[in-house]
Amino acid sequence: MSTAAPDPKANMGQPAPRYDAVAKVTGRATYGADQKLPRPAYAWLVTSAIAKGRINGFDLADANHVRGVIEIITHENAEKLKTAKLFSDGGYASTTIQPLTSPTISHDGEILAVVLAETLEAAREAAYRVKVDTTAETPTASFDSPGAATEAAKGKSAQFTEDPKVGDFAKAFEQAAVKISADYETPTQHHNAIELFATSCVWNGDMLTIYEPSQFVYGLKNGVAEQLGIEPDKVRVISPYIGGAFGSKASMNARTAIIASIARRLGRAVKLVVPRDQGFTTATYRAETRHSVSLAASQDGRLTALRHEGWEVTSRPDNYLVGGTTTTTRLYACPNIESKVSIVHADRNTPGFMRSPPEVPYLFALESAMDELAVALKIDPVELRRINDTMVEPIDGKSYTSRSLMACFDEAAAAFGWAKRNPQPKSMSDGDWLIGYGCAATCYPTMMAPAAARVRLHRDGAVRVEIAGHEIGTGAYTVIAQAAARRLGVPLERVSVEMGDSNLPPAPVAGGSNSTASTCSAVAMVCDQIRERLLKATMPADSLVDKAKSTVGLGQTPTEQAAKSDRPIDIEAAFDRLGVNVIEEFGEWKPDGAPLDSFRAMYKGQTRMVGGEKVKAGIAYAFGAEFVELRVNKYTGEIRVPRMVGAFAAGHIMNPRTARSQLLGGLIWGLSSALHEATEIDERTARYVNDNLADYLIPVNADVPSVDVILLSEQDDKINPLGIKGVGELGNVGTNAAVCNALYHATGQRIRKLPVRLEKIE
Ligand code: MOS
Repeated sequence: MSTAAPDPKANMGQPAPRYDAVAKVTGRATYGADQKLPRPAYAWLVTSAIAKGRINGFDLADANHVRGVIEIITHENAEKLKTAKLFSDGGYASTTIQPLTSPTISHDGEILAVVLAETLEAAREAAYRVKVDTTAETPTASFDSPGAATEAAKGKSAQFTEDPKVGDFAKAFEQAAVKISADYETPTQHHNAIELFATSCVWNGDMLTIYEPSQFVYGLKNGVAEQLGIEPDKVRVISPYIGGAFGSKASMNARTAIIASIARRLGRAVKLVVPRDQGFTTATYRAETRHSVSLAASQDGRLTALRHEGWEVTSRPDNYLVGGTTTTTRLYACPNIESKVSIVHADRNTPGFMRSPPEVPYLFALESAMDELAVALKIDPVELRRINDTMVEPIDGKSYTSRSLMACFDEAAAAFGWAKRNPQPKSMSDGDWLIGYGCAATCYPTMMAPAAARVRLHRDGAVRVEIAGHEIGTGAYTVIAQAAARRLGVPLERVSVEMGDSNLPPAPVAGGSNSTASTCSAVAMVCDQIRERLLKATMPADSLVDKAKSTVGLGQTPTEQAAKSDRPIDIEAAFDRLGVNVIEEFGEWKPDGAPLDSFRAMYKGQTRMVGGEKVKAGIAYAFGAEFVELRVNKYTGEIRVPRMVGAFAAGHIMNPRTARSQLLGGLIWGLSSALHEATEIDERTARYVNDNLADYLIPVNADVPSVDVILLSEQDDKINPLGIKGVGELGNVGTNAAVCNALYHATGQRIRKLPVRLEKIE
């Protein structure tokens, strides 16, 4: 695997090294739990050992005997916090299940008590000595458990109002020359970011400061204020670095307001670091899904009918759902499409966003089914995608703003050596190993959201950018600095960026791969405002109007070309003329088609995301193609994946180095979802069994020998001023299908239930 930063191609920025690299490798980067607090009380959670039932009472005598215990909070003495509304219903929270409000237990590992002590060790020791007397009822664990309540997803969430449909699927399927139907299944997965969930709260008078790794500091600030019944202005959230999140730190967890309330009650700082096992139940996860897919085609491979039905598990009270049919019904040309999504309520904690939430499970089903159809048609799977490639999505007839799916397939196929593949299953081997080649498409909607930024340019050329964006490990500091440097024509080293603080101008949730497009668009726009002031100051009055119009970007006009054609600005002269040492500009940017209340919502910590099939210019997606070589030992069934190749096109690439890193990580996570990851649930007790990194399998270096990432040049002037599509979640979509397709090619065995493990090989 080559580790060099790729050379930029057309429409790509420089592969600048990470802005935060030195701070991270030298330990200077301060994560949530690193914050030094004045005399903190340490909190430890007591969580439920049953998934359904009620608390009869607590025996705290033993716990209170531990030296250093300050107080134990249960539903009997906790402050009654206001119930939080779900993120997808216009609220801030990842769950409406609010612990410490009643004796009812709704899921495994629910918070039943919080122990406060002078030391971490005392808090933990006392927590283990808390005795909870409960009455258990039989819980519903998952799809097949008694009490599972299935209902149509349509209309249950603001994000999913319609099951996409066009033409007459039933008739077309019946009449089709070639058809396949199959059922697929994906397991429960937990994010397992290396940085644990942590919350520290400090009150200064009526001002609350929260140190917590967060993908959305404005959301958390407003959400906690609402739960505590205080003004949002009284809350500040600080989160400059995040050690992995993947969606798990995007919406507010119940623990934050609880810790804030306890800190207020004790009149001192409180610090909580949630251990890994408790993170499985007090935060969110990717719920298990089921799929039924039917595809039909004419003999020449043109799709004539497509049906995708999905089922997703959620908690008893909440309607969290991902609804991936929005994407799978629009990926290929097809005149007759039907789809349906159902949610299945069980006695579980509420699931939530996990990297490419809809696409990972739903494209597993569709891209596996496409491979099955290719086999039935005796057509090369790459060619099947080509035959059904389209610039117009079939549901609403919208045009893709750009689409390089087949270019990705062709580049990746060439780099992989797809031409060497003998299409016959079980036809390729090397000693004891059967060899299979498989491929799949990936796609991810282009998302954008309103963002604000403040930029200061100093006389000496130093630039300061302030924006409440989030560095979740993706390279956000770096690309934002690049956007400012390029726009202002200053060297990258002169730019400093401040992020992850709710006192800064608001940025959207770092989710849906929208951050680069949103924050860089806002920063570029504000830099243009500075350029405009400088230009005005240095230009003779008569040329001012024309010059400003023709070369300086205003609002949403693409100004890359303006930036290039402009004469260099003499900053010293401009500052002299203006009689200042610093120029500061502030601006609010929103994507085309953002609703009228977007800016107001932005300050309230609500993201009005515009993306995918809802962009003004048509339908906007990034695309890619992934190829996998898989080997299965003929005798032991051992599975190895010696190499993966992915080619991706995502509009303007701000930084090929950080983009490659995102896609590389994505491919590896995709491999993980195919071969390793699953949270095991005890069907009888509705409890997670492998809630630790010893038993929750993820790939190690030996599992990932060679991964190649190819970045394609793609220009899209329709989506946003910089033409950015986002790459954060593109890499791990489809990989699971590519692995299973390769497994079929190697062995002739089709595995439709993830993860694929040795015991499933016949
Ligand atoms: Mo992501 S799952 O949109 O953080």
